[in-house]
Amino acid sequence: MEVKRININDLTPGMLVADNVYNSANQLIVPRDVVLTDKAITRMRFHSISSARVYVSDENASPKPASAAAGKEAREVSFFEKLRGTEEFIAFNQDFEKSIPVFEQKLTAMLKGSADPDNDTLTGMVDDMFHSCRTGIQLFNLLHCMRNFDDVTFSHSINVSLICGVLGTWLGRDKAEIEVLMQCGIYHDVGKLLIPKAILDKPGKLSPEEYALIKTHTTQGYNVLKDRKLPREVKLAAMMHHERCDGSGYPFGIRDSKIDPFAKMVAIVDVYDAMTSARVYRGPMCPFKVIDIFENEGLQKYDTHYIMTFLENIVNTYMLNRVKLNDGRVGDVVFVNRASLARPTIKCANEFIDLSAEPGLYIEAII
Ligand SMILES: [Fe+2]
Repeated sequence: MEVKRININDLTPGMLVADNVYNSANQLIVPRDVVLTDKAITRMRFHSISSARVYVSDENASPKPASAAAGKEAREVSFFEKLRGTEEFIAFNQDFEKSIPVFEQKLTAMLKGSADPDNDTLTGMVDDMFHSCRTGIQLFNLLHCMRNFDDVTFSHSINVSLICGVLGTWLGRDKAEIEVLMQCGIYHDVGKLLIPKAILDKPGKLSPEEYALIKTHTTQGYNVLKDRKLPREVKLAAMMHHERCDGSGYPFGIRDSKIDPFAKMVAIVDVYDAMTSARVYRGPMCPFKVIDIFENEGLQKYDTHYIMTFLENIVNTYMLNRVKLNDGRVGDVVFVNRASLARPTIKCANEFIDLSAEPGLYIEAII
């Protein structure tokens, strides 16, 4: 099935919307996967929206009317879609959008010259966003709602810096350490700016040569930072954030105690952000799915204390939240299984479903 942009005048009730529709103030007007109704089309006209992307069938490229079943599912507005309509999200999103070109300009300027980076401006911007959030998990939720950004490098650096601030707080680190950790997030991928964009953005599989080149962003980043006025941990995090505790990482394949503790924290946040951020080819992943991947991929790759603190805090926050299972049932998270964090116990009507004992079931979405 193809997706096609259709003029507002040609939209008809029954079509299935492929992308979220926002107004100029970035408020969600019609969520994706919703079946258009007269009311929804009128709402779009009211907000001066000129077109929307809808699914069309492949054979004749005409817009596809949705099935009744799809419509029923689509009318469930998710937790994250509700959050997108809040003032808090709109303000956060605006700050985030404003910071991207500043990051681009400052980091690019640093690469071109020998001067120290404008660290005060960059840390000031992430600090403001960090402190605008009431709780760490609220920050996670806001980031989860972000729209797709064409730029991956700068928005990723901001995300990692913000999430590093949350992890540092959960680990009970002091203010000065959290500041350094957030700076590690800002600069960890600076070496990627020296890798050709065509390779970074390549949609298909990378050749061994291309992958080898991408891996050099760690050492290249360190070389860019090593003589600048920045904390030592920031330079080491750029070098070591792809190292893994079991020796399976790069550039050196070093283990455990040889890896700087700040680089170990950035490693977790870096992977988490890459999975949860919306990408051009997919929407953001449900946090329980991400935790499942961490648990399956092998927690031994990461520092045990850091990874368990990080994942347990995320799961505990969704306690009592409503979730939807892959078989369509909806229930509340009532008990967290420490041995299987992605698979808590869910109360659906009067039934308790222990997901750790039900391999075929999983949490599909938080609603
Ligand atoms: Fe990286």
